[in-house]
Order: sequence, then structure tokens, then C-alpha cells
Amino acid sequence: MKYNFDEIIKRDNTRSVKYDLRIPLFGEQNVIPMWVADMDFATPSFILDDVKEQLSSAVMGYPIRDSGFENALKSWLEKRHSISIHHSWVKFSPGIVSALVVLIEAFTKKGDGILIQPPVYHPFIEVPLKHERRLILNPLKLENDKYCIDFEDFENKITESSMFILCNPHNPVGRSWTRDEMQKMAELCAKHDVLLVSDEIHSDLIFVPFKHESVLSLPKIQNLRQVTCFSPSKTFNLAGFFTSAVVIADPKMRQNYSETIQKWHMNSGNIFSQTSFVSAYEKGEEWLNQLLSYLSVNLDFTRDYLKQNIPNIKLIEPQATYLLWLDFRNLGMDDKTLRDFIIRKAGLGLSDGFTFGDGGSGFMRMNIACPKSVVETALKQLSEAIKAIREND
Ligand SMILES: Cc1ncc(COP(=O)(O)O)c(C=O)c1O
Repeated sequence: MKYNFDEIIKRDNTRSVKYDLRIPLFGEQNVIPMWVADMDFATPSFILDDVKEQLSSAVMGYPIRDSGFENALKSWLEKRHSISIHHSWVKFSPGIVSALVVLIEAFTKKGDGILIQPPVYHPFIEVPLKHERRLILNPLKLENDKYCIDFEDFENKITESSMFILCNPHNPVGRSWTRDEMQKMAELCAKHDVLLVSDEIHSDLIFVPFKHESVLSLPKIQNLRQVTCFSPSKTFNLAGFFTSAVVIADPKMRQNYSETIQKWHMNSGNIFSQTSFVSAYEKGEEWLNQLLSYLSVNLDFTRDYLKQNIPNIKLIEPQATYLLWLDFRNLGMDDKTLRDFIIRKAGLGLSDGFTFGDGGSGFMRMNIACPKSVVETALKQLSEAIKAIREND
């Protein structure tokens, strides 16, 4: 491997959310942080070199964004996912959650229903509520250890909704939705005139043999209104640059988005946002291929370790993302007891399943985008903590 994903990088006292919020979040400084979706791998050096070059221009005045930004995403989508778009469809957003805020304000009004599929990335729950929209829930079904969509319920619920926010691939359950599932959801949105917002931030992080199926790769669906969100932030570990994009094919909708984001003065981006975005998408393919190989080794290790040593914790097999959804329900603990156990006995900082809404209770989300040695230590700590419960029974 050309890139070193084994290196342990000290992140304490770097003003990192993942490391430096451990006391307020977990009450313990020493938990291994495997919660928020940022990776412990170095942001690729080719990106940092381009950012350093930008820094060398000495004056950090207001930047502009040029067509290089749009073209970088267009080319990436073409070569990585065989998705064809026009560069003018690409619009900036600092982050994907900020894009959701803008989209909700631009395309819905107070009191409107917004459909989501819990358990799901928690801002999908919080953002609509903070903006005084109603949440409409189409909970995912867990059948034979695999999550799937309850289409009967989807069709009922969509009639009460103005917007559907799809997590594609899905955080935290790790599903990469199939062409068939995507097609069905999109057709129902079109039939009921519901705006489909597809958050595809994890779309580059897909395990073999799965394939990302974007809303943008579906055959044309009459009357479908849709927006798709992308970012290099998860893929290349550069969330701190706050640089993302939304793709909107319809000119009127694009205009509405642009006017809304400008209304709140969120459209500028910092001086590194274009530099890091373009660098990632233009130079990142080989790095990403190696990252995906490394992540699949961590995944294989975790699956085998759980099977052999902690069979009562079930891994929901991920098809995408570096976030593992672990089923702890066999331990018979309530959420508070489970949280305390994970922090104080296993020494881990994981994401509590219940924060992802309906269906999350009894689960934990674990981020394995870290050196394999860290995954090994974490699982050993977990196994020993479980053994200790059995010995005390
Ligand atoms: C599905 C999903 N959307 C959005 C985000 C966050 O995006 P941003 O930091 O660009 O707001 C995350 C982060 O974990 C995520 O998992």
C-alpha cells in the first residue's frame, strides 16, 4: 500500500470534536472514541499540499468559487459512479446538514410533513423539528438481520409529506439501496409530488460487491422533483473544511436554492473550500481505493472477532459506510445501562442507537475508520467487559 493507514495519529488537544469532547459527552477522558463519523487517518497529503500552496499566497482575503468546483464533482461522479450531470447543476453548501436546512426553508413551509426512515442520522430528526416542520416516520424493517423499506407504510406516509429525506447509503444501518428500491421510492415521490432529497455523502464508501445507486442514475421519471447532496468530507476526511455540494437539475429549483442560501449569507465558503474539494475529487481515486481495502480488512476482522468471542453482539452486515450498527439487545440491558456499560466497563465512546430514533434502542454505532490496532484493542476491551458480566452472574 502506498498510503499508511496503520499510523496512530495523536488527536488529543487538537480541538477535535471526536477527541476533545470526550469528557462532556462520555464523562471519561480515556474512552476510545469511535463515535462521530470522522476518520483517524491523515487527510491525504495531496490535499494538504494544495491547501498549503493556497496558504503560501499570503493574503487570506475573500475568495471566489469558479467553475473548477462544479467540474471537479461532475468528473468525479462520471468516473466513479458513471453518473452524468451538467456542471451548472452543482451548487455549493458548507455542509450537508446546512444544505438540508436551506432545502427545507426553500421548498417547504412551517407545518409541512417531512418523511424520514429511522433509525437514521439524527439531524434528519432534529433539523425538520427545529424548523417547525412535522416529522413523518417510515421506520425501516429489520428482517433476517437485514434492513429493508416498508413500502406499504411508505406509500401511506408519503401522502402526508412535502419532502422525503433519503439517506443513501444509509447511516447508521449501512444499506446501499438497490436500483429497484431507489426506483420505487422515486416513483412514489413523483406520483405524490413530494420533493426527494437524497443525501449521498457516504456514496464513495461502498464495500465490494455493492454499487452506489444514485437518484441521478435512475432513468428519467416523469414529474420527479429531486435534489442530491454530495461531499468529499467523509470520503477524504476533510469535514473541517466545510465544503459540500448539492446537485439540482431543474433551473427554477436551482434558482430557489441559490436565493435561499444567499439570503442567509451561507454561500461563500472559506478560502480552502474549493481548493480541498477540487484536490480531493481530482487526485483522490487511488487513495480512496486503498482506503476501501483497508476498511474492508477492519470490517472482516470485526465480523470474525465478534463471531468467535462475543457472539451475543450481532453485527448488522454493512454494505456501505465505515459505521457499524451493532445489535446489543441480547444483553438485555436498557439504553442507559448499555451506555454506562460501554463507557465505564468497555472503555469505548460509541454512538447510542436510541439517538437515531425509532428502532435504535438496544443498538450502538461503532466507527471503524481507524488503524486496525485500535479496532483490535476496542474489541478486546468489549470482550473482556462482557466476560466480566458473565463471571459476576
Ligand atoms: C448521512 C449524513 N449526512 C450528513 C452528515 C454530515 O454532513 P456535514 O458535516 O457536511 O453537515 C453526516 C455525518 O455523519 C451523515 O452521516
